[in-house]
This record gives sequence, structure tokens and C-alpha cells, in this order.
Amino acid sequence: MSKEVLAPSALSAGNHQANNETTVSSHASVNRRSFLKKSMITGAVATGAGLLAGGIPAFAQETNPASITQGDIDILRFLAAAELLETDLWTQYTELGGVQDSEESGQNGGSPLYTAALQILDQDMPQYIHDNTDDEKSHQAFINAYLQSIGADPVDLTQFATLPGSKATGARNVGRLTNLMNLTVDTSFWTRYRSATQNPDLDTNVKFPLSEVIVNRTAIPRTDADLVGPAHIAPFNIPDHLKAIAFTAGFHFAFIEQGGSSLYPSLAQRVTNVDVLRILLSIGPTETSHFQTWHDKAGNVLTVFDTDPVTGAKVGFRQLTTNQPESLQANLIMPEPCPFMSTKFPACSIIRPTNTTGVAMGAVKALTADGLFIGQSQDFFNTLNALATAADAAVRGF
Ligand SMILES: [Fe+2]
Ligand SMILES: [Fe+2]
Repeated sequence: MSKEVLAPSALSAGNHQANNETTVSSHASVNRRSFLKKSMITGAVATGAGLLAGGIPAFAQETNPASITQGDIDILRFLAAAELLETDLWTQYTELGGVQDSEESGQNGGSPLYTAALQILDQDMPQYIHDNTDDEKSHQAFINAYLQSIGADPVDLTQFATLPGSKATGARNVGRLTNLMNLTVDTSFWTRYRSATQNPDLDTNVKFPLSEVIVNRTAIPRTDADLVGPAHIAPFNIPDHLKAIAFTAGFHFAFIEQGGSSLYPSLAQRVTNVDVLRILLSIGPTETSHFQTWHDKAGNVLTVFDTDPVTGAKVGFRQLTTNQPESLQANLIMPEPCPFMSTKFPACSIIRPTNTTGVAMGAVKALTADGLFIGQSQDFFNTLNALATAADAAVRGF
């Protein structure tokens, strides 16, 4: 692999971000984070102006460009793609089930009944969905701006945003990168993180049981027809079919974010430049912050069964808060210490897996198996595979 050294360009990531953020509207008065953010923007703009007084971005002066390798760029470009995909799927969730404000794309009023179904898991679900979306948007914007600042090509997947989205009231009528309507959710994170004896990095053949079996199910209302139907369990104003859709989303949230939790530390092991390492080490734990929240909320699922009227796909959720073994019990979500690196060491509470070999392509495969890309073009897969292959070829270079 190449270790081509790239010189930084004069582009200022600081200016780019400040311009974007000044578009934040005052409509978000109900949003605590928006208030805090707006307070910080003023400071950021002022600080940025000071940094740029000498004509050279301060961060470029601090960065040793000789240590940014082509491998670093390939890792960042794959992560930019991953963050664009995350942004796309979270935007779909926030349009229908997130807090509705002008900060995110949820400006069409959302789907109140879908939102209510999500709130069975926690009253704060709409806020968390909104804020997870906000975070993903910031991740892709930052990584792409950083790439540009070092003279590398940013990643743009806009041409592949051609998939049909939800037609339910609240969703925007725009093309999507990801498909949330035929998901097969790998819920094995539930048992993987509570195993005291198994770590997939030490035994790649180990199979962690699923907490729920979710195959070819929609996680969002596809049309308003998904908002109607009988309810056999409380709350009775929310059809059981819609409860099952919301619970699918609840587990999908955790699946997506545990993936990010592993991806960043896995790729960080092959980063060379310290600034690039800082980016990975700083974004990665926010994915884990999301994961832990969703992990907790998914545990509030109720016992409900549903057969999808469109696809015929069946799903059954079970209440996890009471009368469950330790392998399922809802409140056992803190990572259990498990074998790490070698069984000769004592067990350690860690993110798992963090094996670095082939991790980018592994992420592509996992997202593909999730059903997120059903309907995507061969060009899309070729592009994503090329980005992953390049990232997986990166070598820590000293
Ligand atoms: Fe992210
Ligand atoms: Fe994420």
C-alpha cells in the first residue's frame, strides 16, 4: 500500500463549520441542546477569526503533514462514507419519530402515532433520535471538512440517494441511501456484551444468541396504513403492528451504534497521524454513548406479536424487564468483563470486537446483511467496496 504524503491545503475547516452552523434556526427553542449549541457557536466563530488572523489555519500549523499517510486518508474516507450512511438512516428516523424542529430535517410534523409507539420504550426517545441524527451529521461534515483541509477528496454519496423512502405522513419525498423497510436486525449484541467467557476477537466462530429474531421487517411506517390495526395490549391507542415497527426500530438503533462502537477502535489501530488518531478516538466513544442509550431503551420492549400485512413477515417481541434469565434480563446492559487479547490475562470490560483485520469490509457486510442497501445499484456497492478495501489496506506506518 502507498504511504503517499499529502500536504495540507489552505482550506479552513473552522470556517466551513461556522458557516454551516449559523443556519441553525431559532425554532429549536424547545430543544435544550440547540440552546447550548447556539451559545457555543458565537464563541466558535470568534475563536476561529482569531486563529485565522495570521492567514494559516492554526490546526495546519500544529499538524505535521508528513505523518498523514494515504492509509490515514483511506480510513477517514471510509468513515466519511459510513457516517453519510448513518446520517441518511437517522434522518429517516427523525423525520417520522424525532423531535420536530428546524435543526434537523423533521419539519413535516413527524408521525405522532409512530412517535408515541417509540415512546413506549422511553418518553425521551424523540429527543434521543433527533440528537443521534444531529451527531451523525456532524461526524460526516467534520470528517469530510478535515479531508478537504489536508488536500484529500471528501466523500459524496449523493448520486446514490435514489431509494424510495416512507410515504407515510411526516416523511419527506426525497431519495434515500438506505432502506429501513426490509430490515433483518442482528440482535446478538444483546448477549455478546453480557458474556463473561466469550469474545468474538478470540473465537471468530462463537455464535452469540439473538435477543429477538427480526427478519425482513420495517422499522418505520411505510405508509399511513401502517398506523392502523388492532391492539391487544396497552397502550390500546397504538396498534400492535405499529408497536412491532417501533420495537424493530429500537433494536435497530442499538445495532447500528454498536457497529460504530467497534468500527472506530478497530480502525484506529492502523492510523499513523496523531490528529487522525484523535479524530477516531474522539468520535468513536460518541457511538458508544449512543449504543448504551439504545441498549437501555430496547430493554423496555413489551410482549407483542405481529404478522406484517404487506410482506407476511412475522415477529415476536418479549418483555425483558421481568422473569428473564441473565442472558436476556433488561438491566444487565453494562459490558461484562470478558477475555481480552489472551485468556492468560484476567477478564476485562471492553468494547468487542475490536479486531482490526478486514473491519471495514466487515462493516459493509454487516450493513448489507441488515438489509439497509436492498434496492441499491451495483455502482453503489462498487463504490462502498472500493472505499472499504482501501481502508482495510491501510497500515500503521512508522
Ligand atoms: Fe457516527
Ligand atoms: Fe452512530
